[in-house]
Amino acid sequence: MQWIVKYLTSSIGKKQIMGCTGAFLALFILGHMCGNFQLLNFDQASAQASYNAYTEFLTGFNPLHFPVKLIYLVELVLVGAFALHIFLAVTLKIENKKARGGIEYEVSARKGKKTFATFTMIWSGLFIVGFLIQHLMMLKFGEHYLYMNAEGEIVRDMWLTTIQMFANPAWAAFYVVSMFVIGMHLFHAISSAFQTMGIAHQKWTPIIDVCGIIYSVVVALGFGITAIAAFYLANQPGTQALIEKSRALQPQYEQQLKEKAAAKTSFVIPSVGTVEVSFNA
Ligand code: HEM
Repeated sequence: MQWIVKYLTSSIGKKQIMGCTGAFLALFILGHMCGNFQLLNFDQASAQASYNAYTEFLTGFNPLHFPVKLIYLVELVLVGAFALHIFLAVTLKIENKKARGGIEYEVSARKGKKTFATFTMIWSGLFIVGFLIQHLMMLKFGEHYLYMNAEGEIVRDMWLTTIQMFANPAWAAFYVVSMFVIGMHLFHAISSAFQTMGIAHQKWTPIIDVCGIIYSVVVALGFGITAIAAFYLANQPGTQALIEKSRALQPQYEQQLKEKAAAKTSFVIPSVGTVEVSFNA
């Protein structure tokens, strides 16, 4: 047990856990980027249908009918990984500074290879935290538009929420700049994570570096192009009509909520009796 505590509080232990949580977050980012490629569809009606079907699938996915939807567990793991990653980054930064008597300079494990990204890791990391706060506030917890899906059910129009944010050129520009910062952070994180894991090899290190560059450029460009496409889509003449259509669904949506709340299921539990459960939307 003691060795775990020793490992978790050691500098190398912290760096390795940072690497693992970072790798998990990098994989999430790649998946998220692929999902968002559906915004690259310039036929508004089909883009709206496919993007909303995608977000509906992600938020409602529960194949084994657990009492808790899978998305909540994924979100819990994501928040945990983000929190741990940030906490360890800040702790290591403070320890690093203290060990050098307050003089702030970074020593790269790879001598002579101190890039701009190396020096700015903590700052690009903190910028990403700010980006994520804006991102979640404007999208996940942002404007709630409505959309009638193929089954006639009224659901959240996440496509409209997303492109409406990008309608503002300031946000579109902020996203393009943010993607550059995220790409830079990812590039250095990848090469440094391999270094921490002890993979430093004359032959492999340059290959890992190239893969890191390709990965970071793909992610930055992928998201950047998506942001520009969303800005273009949002400023098309048809968008206003879609917003009005969404607003007109409000009374029907309220009716749907009432019907769902009223739908009650009862079942018998031995020695308890009949239990009535109301399923809310
Ligand atoms: C063009 C760029 C991006 C677009 C259009 C986009 C779109 C979205 C949308 C629509 C949601 C809400 C999904 C929902 O609640 O159903 C979301 C959530 C999220 N995004 Fe992005 N995103 C972009 C870039 C990024 C980047 C670069 C990161 C990470 C650095 C990121 C991290 C997240 C996270 C952590 C969530 C919350 C996931 C959840 O709660 O399940 N996004 N994004």
